[in-house]
Amino acid sequence: MAKTGIIVLAAGMGTRMKSALPKVLHKAANRSLLGHALTAAATLKPERLCVVHGPAMDNVAKEAAKFVKTCLFAEQSDRKGTGHAVLMAKSAMEDFRGTILILYGDVPLIQPETLTKLLAKCDSANPMAVLGFVADNPKGYGRLLTSQREKVVAIREELDASPEERQINLCNSGIISIDAKLLWQLLPKIGSKNAKGEIYLTDLVELVNKADKSVALEVCSEAEVQGVNDRKQLSEIEAKLQDRLRHAAMANGATLIDPDSVYMSADTRIGCDVIIEPNVIFGPGVTVGNNVDILGHSHIEGATIGDGARVGPFARLRPGAEIGENAHVGNYVEIKKAVLGKGAKVNHLSYIGDATVGAASNIGAGTITCNYDGFEKHLTEIGDNVFVGSNSALVAPVKIGSGANIAAGSVITKSVPSDALALTRPELQIKEGWAKTYRAIKSAQKDKKKKS
Ligand code: UD1
Ligand code: CA
Repeated sequence: MAKTGIIVLAAGMGTRMKSALPKVLHKAANRSLLGHALTAAATLKPERLCVVHGPAMDNVAKEAAKFVKTCLFAEQSDRKGTGHAVLMAKSAMEDFRGTILILYGDVPLIQPETLTKLLAKCDSANPMAVLGFVADNPKGYGRLLTSQREKVVAIREELDASPEERQINLCNSGIISIDAKLLWQLLPKIGSKNAKGEIYLTDLVELVNKADKSVALEVCSEAEVQGVNDRKQLSEIEAKLQDRLRHAAMANGATLIDPDSVYMSADTRIGCDVIIEPNVIFGPGVTVGNNVDILGHSHIEGATIGDGARVGPFARLRPGAEIGENAHVGNYVEIKKAVLGKGAKVNHLSYIGDATVGAASNIGAGTITCNYDGFEKHLTEIGDNVFVGSNSALVAPVKIGSGANIAAGSVITKSVPSDALALTRPELQIKEGWAKTYRAIKSAQKDKKKKS
């Protein structure tokens, strides 16, 4: 097959989003719409890829580079239509030879397999192919006029279509593939004599036909080419992506007790024999190993969870949390930028931030690593097999040597050597019979007040 070049149209501001952010930077499953389109694009290993963005959209270029390092950019200063947008990519793509695929930055559900099929439809007899879909309600879409041989002879935009043409429900997704040389030959010939006064990319179809070549048709589901114009559509895309991610996790060997209540990110990685209870949220950058139990209501982002670990219920893992093999993180525990060694346990009501906890150490209920002095963050380093008693404050920077024991309620401000005991409690005093005498005095006083 010919080499692939890709042009992604992303110049629209997306007025209906009512947002200061360009539309393609809005996120679904914690990945930008553009990121989704580029992830599909990158799977095809294109020789060259160019994103067409609007003016003052440096943030769009920055985002694109995260997904395709070698990405080229073109700016479209005036929005004069899809054909005009592609023309902006000419200088970046002109010397490329092969098939050019044109994608929309606001169509995030497109699958690489579909794009591969569309590319495969391009050959010498069919130098162009259009991706179409059968719409439930075709209103607003360009309609595909086809020949008996199932070739596309024209695309008619809604506003330019006759009443009969509007009856057609085979619609244009906007995604096309076309021989590169032919694209740059024909594109300058497109005029703007249409209802919108725009340069329509879709006019290429008639030009190819006029040149005695055919335009092939590939059909996919309507859902796959759904675009985003407003926040309601964004929420629909989110729901579809969540379903895909949940199904993929289950197909990969994870049990989701109530899949609809689990939210994932596009990059969430979950191993096998993982059990995920209801109401768990995975933010970006999470990797879960095998045989992990994630109990209900846990919120996890930027974290790595090792094999056999148990997290939750009600646990919060923040960026930089690395939970070791067979470690336990229990209820109301927050872990941030901290490494828990193999089999370490932080089971109740603790904050462990900017810290390392060695293997098999046990961190008692209510332990706090005091990592922030109001100006800077400091490190707490806890060795292996350390026992930290409940309600201890470890004031960083501080080191607790392996095998040390911290007595409950201690405030640790200095490093503790290995195998030592550290305690900062005032000595316990016991006064025999004190409470009984106290009660007698108090109740006598109360009686006296009542009588007077
Ligand atoms: C376009 C198609 C229509 C198709 C529909 C599918 C044309 C003329 N029409 O219509 O046949 O059914 O998509 O959704 O192509 N863009 C730019 N610069 C521009 C104009 C558009 O970058 O000057 C980008 C947009 O950001 C968007 C995409 O191109 O990603 C499509 O633009 P849009 O205005 O939504 O096209 P439609 O009129 O809906
Ligand atoms: Ca559109």
